[in-house]
Amino acid sequence: MKMSININRLFHLAGMILILISSGLVFNSCEQDELPPTKPITSSCDTNNVTYDLVIKPILEKNCTACHNDGFSGGRVNLSNYTNAQTTAVSGKLVSSLSGTMKSYISDECEIVKIKAWVNQGSKE
Ligand code: HEC
Repeated sequence: MKMSININRLFHLAGMILILISSGLVFNSCEQDELPPTKPITSSCDTNNVTYDLVIKPILEKNCTACHNDGFSGGRVNLSNYTNAQTTAVSGKLVSSLSGTMKSYISDECEIVKIKAWVNQGSKE
């Protein structure tokens, strides 16, 4: 469990460093006078036909399965396969966790929107 947290932190740190480096590149560039357009979250967030295999699995693997897998399942929740993820979805715990503590593990607002859409659409495989 300790290792998972450290890995998670490391990825977070790496992400921050990447953001810092890339924003530095943009601001230091002499040819670029305007800031890049800000990315609108909602219009680019595709919530059509959200399925576990194509959309949800990669999101959960990126943000959640480090602590919710066959070996370690925080809060007795396993999100590492369809059956268990679907059970968590149907119980309502998946969505409620995203407005609680677990929200801190997912930074992309569109990914949260997609998870909610998946549950609303019947958590299809
Ligand atoms: C660093 C480890 C860690 C990560 C990453 C993590 N969780 Fe958890 N999760 C826990 C632990 C520990 C618990 C049990 C204690 C608690 O509920 O806070 C838990 C509990 C839960 C529960 C049960 C809550 C309840 O009502 O019983 C759900 C659902 C959940 N997590 C979903 C997620 C989702 C979705 C993600 C990814 C966005 C995620 N978790 C990421 C450690 C983690």
